[in-house]
Amino acid sequence: MGKKVTVVGAGFYGSTTAQRLAEYDVFDTVVITDIVEGKPAGLALDLNQSRAIEGFETKVVGVTTGPNGEGYEAIEGSDVVVITAGLPRKPGMSRMDLLETNAKIVRQVAENVAKYAPSAVVIVVSNPLDEMTALAQLATQFPKNRVLGQAGMLDTARFSNFVAEALNVPVASVRTLTLGSHGDTMVPVPSKSTVNGRPLRDAMPAEQIEELVVKTRNGGAEVVALLKTGSAYYAPSAAAARMAKAVAEDSGEVMPVCAWVDGEYGIDGVYLGVEAEIGAEGVKRVVETDLDADERASLLAAAEAVRAKQGDVANM
Ligand code: NAI
Ligand code: 2OP
Repeated sequence: MGKKVTVVGAGFYGSTTAQRLAEYDVFDTVVITDIVEGKPAGLALDLNQSRAIEGFETKVVGVTTGPNGEGYEAIEGSDVVVITAGLPRKPGMSRMDLLETNAKIVRQVAENVAKYAPSAVVIVVSNPLDEMTALAQLATQFPKNRVLGQAGMLDTARFSNFVAEALNVPVASVRTLTLGSHGDTMVPVPSKSTVNGRPLRDAMPAEQIEELVVKTRNGGAEVVALLKTGSAYYAPSAAAARMAKAVAEDSGEVMPVCAWVDGEYGIDGVYLGVEAEIGAEGVKRVVETDLDADERASLLAAAEAVRAKQGDVANM
């Protein structure tokens, strides 16, 4: 049977994700939904009219959903659901400032996903990411491997881009990694970063690596400060779309994602940014990597910081 993916939320993140997913041409159907009357249908019409030019057969369907789940029948049979619904940051706001507002939205969306697409893998992108991923799992009651969040792919891509620009080398020659939270306790991992297969630490001085680590942690806020009316979406949508593709193709690709960690790195039960093998069932396996002592300590600190906040969302 052909594959079906739903993107909930037709704002900047959702619409660019739907476009990327359609252009991959690996899904039969991309459904895009929003609570704004007409917007998803308009975007679907527009995207379908690009098929003859871009050369893809995927059909895009746009549906407006109501406060009592009206319209959610359209997501039935989805293999993957990407949740982008929720407010983005404004300049000066932290991702955590969005917690209460987005918790209401994500809970309502997740409950409808559980009802209408009970076999789907859910990829959460709404912020604050680690907390919204935990909430989506609680609200769907899906097995934890079937609910994951997008953050690490984006943060890693930002780190790689900054390294490539600083060294003036092709971005394809750079491998980096970020773990931890999509927030203040993000953990860029220089010990696992390479340029042309050589350790990053041989390619630039420690102080410069530290500058790029700080820039990576601040990557989202830097874009928000320039855009003024919203947050980044080109790199974020590329990240979520690649994750959805890995699920649809059952690729087993190892990606940095927000996954349920229970035992790995000696960490008990929490959603946290780690590397994981992604496939048809969502997270096939969390992949534990060797970290140096500082990085490991930062990852443990991130786990404890997000654990406290994830506890709060249970009642939201
Ligand atoms: P946006 O404001 O352009 O779009 C959000 C959309 O959600 C709006 O169209 C709104 O009508 C819709 N929406 C609100 N309530 C809804 C509901 N109950 N059901 C369906 N749709 C609903 O914002 P943007 O830029 O698309 O960002 C979306 C979210 O993604 C934000 O929370 C943002 O912080 C987050 N984000 C996360 C990133 C990550 O790495 N995890 C990166 C970038 C953004
Ligand atoms: C980003 O990292 C705001 O989470 C969003 O761009």
